Formats: sequence, structure tokens, C-alpha cells
Amino acid sequence: MRVRVFGNNMDGISDFAFRMMSLMYVFRDRFTSPWSLLDEFGIARGQTVVDYGCGPGSYLKRASELVGPEGRVWAVDIHELAIKAVRRQIDKEQMSNVTAVQADGMRSSLPNETADLIYALDMFHMVSSPKEFLRELNRICKGKGSLFIDNGHQSRDEARLKLRSSGMWEIVEEKKRYLKCSPVKEGGYSPSSWAPGQEEADTFGYFQLNSTRR
Ligand SMILES: C[S@@+](CC[C@H](N)C(=O)[O-])C[C@H]1O[C@@H](n2cnc3c(N)ncnc32)[C@H](O)[C@@H]1O
Repeated sequence: MRVRVFGNNMDGISDFAFRMMSLMYVFRDRFTSPWSLLDEFGIARGQTVVDYGCGPGSYLKRASELVGPEGRVWAVDIHELAIKAVRRQIDKEQMSNVTAVQADGMRSSLPNETADLIYALDMFHMVSSPKEFLRELNRICKGKGSLFIDNGHQSRDEARLKLRSSGMWEIVEEKKRYLKCSPVKEGGYSPSSWAPGQEEADTFGYFQLNSTRR
């Protein structure tokens, strides 16, 4: 059984839910150090990294250390309270290479091809328009960049199906805790994830899968 504390397919949670989540993360962070996951992503000094759906910013200090002073971390979230929390953390920890950006719906306002690496953790299940969201991540990712995304509170099958049916990302590696993806650029579809007539089948599969889970 999946836990639906904050609801799937709802990008903007209430202020109350955001505060509750932040409180839970205080305990999660104290006992599990989730940011150690970033060490598996191969983040290098000088890179530009986007933490998409950063929430209160649990991963930012580690990301800031990994890219170093010559790198940059963009912390993107749709929720105003997340942006406020991240700005407080930036001041407190003196993280001059981190910038908070509030997303507007599925748009982040970051320039095209900004990121060497994007990570989106514990948030994919909340996204109401996965295809638009994945298009936006594709837009801000460099051609040779990578996306590390986890299931969130949905099955691996659902996460995989959303990624594949978007036509925007190719899954290049699967680990227990995340999927590593490469962007499919120039409006083309990669041969391994796309065949003519595939999109409808994939999209139908996605809705079928979702409707059986509601
Ligand atoms: C459960 S929290 C996870 C926070 C952080 N990634 C972590 O794991 O500690 C999910 C976050 O994703 C944000 N979010 C949901 N949909 C979003 C969207 N479409 N664009 C940007 N942020 C989004 C929410 O506001 C929330 O702060």
C-alpha cells in the first residue's frame, strides 16, 4: 500500500501540508542523511546543477559543496514557502553558489540548456502534468546533461511509463533508488524509446495504469 500523505498529481500543496512535510524532513534528515545520495550522481566541481522540487532544501548544502565556488546550484520549487526556506538556508550557510527560483506551473524560468545535471527527488508523483514537466526539464538540461529522478510515492512502472511516454528522456540506468536519464533533444525521439505510433500506446498505457490505481 502506498502512503499518500500529500496527494499524488497535485503540484501545489497547502501551506499547512508544506509545514508538516518540512517538520517530517527535520527527523528524516537527522536520522538518514538523504543528501549522501548525491555522491552517487557524479556531480563535479564547476558544474551547474538543478535541484527540481527542492522543498525546504535538504540536499542543497551537499550540492553546493560538490559543485564548489565555481559551480552553481539552482533550487527550484513551485511553493513559496520552499523558496523562503531555501533563501534562509542560503543566508545561514553562506551558500553563495545557490539560487532559489520559484516555478510557475510547469515552467521554471531558467534559461535553455542551463544544467549539467538535474535531480528531482521525492516529487515526481506530485506533478500533475508529467509530460509538460518533463519537457521543461529537457529544455533546461544541456544536451549531454543528465536527470536523476526517483519514483516518489508511485511505482517504478508508473515513473518509467511517464518518462518513456514523454518522448523527452531516455532511461540510461536504473538503480533501486533512482533512474538516470539522458535528454532526447531537437524534438526527435530516441530510437530505443520510440517507434511510430508508440506515443498513443504509451500514453494510453499510462492512463490505464493510473486509472486502475485511483
Ligand atoms: C515531497 S517534497 C520533496 C522535497 C525534496 N526534493 C526532498 O526530497 O527533500 C516535494 C516538493 O516538490 C515541489 N513540487 C511539486 N510539484 C512541483 C512542480 N511542478 N514544480 C516544482 N516543484 C514542485 C513541492 O512544492 C515540494 O516542495
